[in-house]
Amino acid sequence: MVFAQTIVEAPKYGAIRRTAAISAPSEPVPTTNTRSGSGGISVFHDNYRPGIGRFDRTDLASLDRRHLWHPFTQQQGWIDEDTPIIESGDRSTLIDSEGREYIDGISSLWCNVHGHRHPAIDIAIKDQLDKVAHSTMLGLTHAPAIELARRLVELAPDGLQRVFYSDSGSTAAEIALKMAFQYWQQQGGDAARRTRFIALRDAYHGDTIGSVSVGGIDLFHSMYRPLLFDTLKAEPGDAADMERLLSEHDGEVAAVIMEPLVQGAAGMIVHPAGYLRDVRELCDRHGAFLICDEVATGFGRTGRMFACEHEGVSPDFLCLAKGLTAGYLPLAATLTTERVYEGFLGRFEEFRTFFHGHTYTGNPLACAAALANLRVFEQQSTLELLQPKIELLGELLRGLRALPHVGEIRRRGFMCGIELEGFQPSARMGHQVTLEARRRGAIIRPLGDVVVLMPPLSIEEPELRRLIEITAASIEAATAAPVGARAPLAA
Ligand SMILES: Cc1ncc(COP(=O)(O)O)c(C=O)c1O
Repeated sequence: MVFAQTIVEAPKYGAIRRTAAISAPSEPVPTTNTRSGSGGISVFHDNYRPGIGRFDRTDLASLDRRHLWHPFTQQQGWIDEDTPIIESGDRSTLIDSEGREYIDGISSLWCNVHGHRHPAIDIAIKDQLDKVAHSTMLGLTHAPAIELARRLVELAPDGLQRVFYSDSGSTAAEIALKMAFQYWQQQGGDAARRTRFIALRDAYHGDTIGSVSVGGIDLFHSMYRPLLFDTLKAEPGDAADMERLLSEHDGEVAAVIMEPLVQGAAGMIVHPAGYLRDVRELCDRHGAFLICDEVATGFGRTGRMFACEHEGVSPDFLCLAKGLTAGYLPLAATLTTERVYEGFLGRFEEFRTFFHGHTYTGNPLACAAALANLRVFEQQSTLELLQPKIELLGELLRGLRALPHVGEIRRRGFMCGIELEGFQPSARMGHQVTLEARRRGAIIRPLGDVVVLMPPLSIEEPELRRLIEITAASIEAATAAPVGARAPLAA
């Protein structure tokens, strides 16, 4: 490793000496500086050039293989794949370093809402950057966090008055679990017996240890069982099973945690109508809290701002992330009621404080992006414009039913899962379909053999048609290839 010192000039602050790590002696140490402008402050970047930066595509691909470890990825296979290096985005399109364009069929992992590089959100972030990029919420506060909290409370189901920020869906769920647990402990007496959580079979609430404890996807979670706290598992969509668990463990349950309406990572499992309302009533009857994890379903994906609205349900905790910043920056929020909030009040020496908080909790840039996101929802009538697109998507998906190996097609709003039937796990048929889709100009990502589609809400009608055409052609191409592990299971 070679270290080079460069001088970065920012006139307002004088010259700042910065030590830059140059990864290998063979790589050129920057000798020239190119001027770039930023918010009125001139900055000289080392060897900056617009676009891809210091390395060309081949360099980047090999450096990725040498240094990166990608999430939810078997790196052994990754090394053999020629993966696009995404360089820019424009509305529903992602563009790679070769200039190839792809429809973003999964909203960059379920979070983009209004398309890439939306001018209003770009400007909001840049404006905030001209003020301050980050300031802590521990012992200080700032306008974007305050204004966003107010707006979220206005939009959220009734009764959710308090907003606690963090930075991912996992932490939003983790926080709800910890708050629910601590609330009951602090109530004392019989209430302190409420230490258990009920989650749904096949649940997914994130990757931190608490959120994994309430998870139920064996492939992701079983390895960690010895580290996890024990939870009760209810059959999704079956109110009688939920009632049985709450009755058998009467007075022991701190909270039921669930994704309302659709269990996304479980493979887009859609619950029957009324199930969410039934669970709310059962929680009320048995005195347990209801935690609704709207990390995936929130911000319009089901056709309403929040999935809970479809059944007129107000949970005790609402977990938000992903679409909160329209897919721009990491920000999450756990909303709760005054009742829960008041359960934490007391003199300091009573130690009822919620001792939890992350460094980037309530980051101002992210809050500014989230506020802009919510303004765009309003100003561009996003949810109204979405309704005909939801209809169209349903219609287009019906055409896929006739394809060989396509089983159930599940959908709620803009959340879709197309089940591929009859393949060995080793065939990785869902993955094969996504590779075919990539060749045809769409980015999609499967959950096992479920092909997921979740385009940005702003996708235009012709792009939506094209996305479904590509998906159909990719399923046909991938499932037709009768080679090796890709062969279908014998009937
Ligand atoms: C319902 C749900 N909860 C939590 C999470 C975790 O979110 P993150 O990946 O931001 O930690 C996800 C991610 O897909 C999710 O779908």
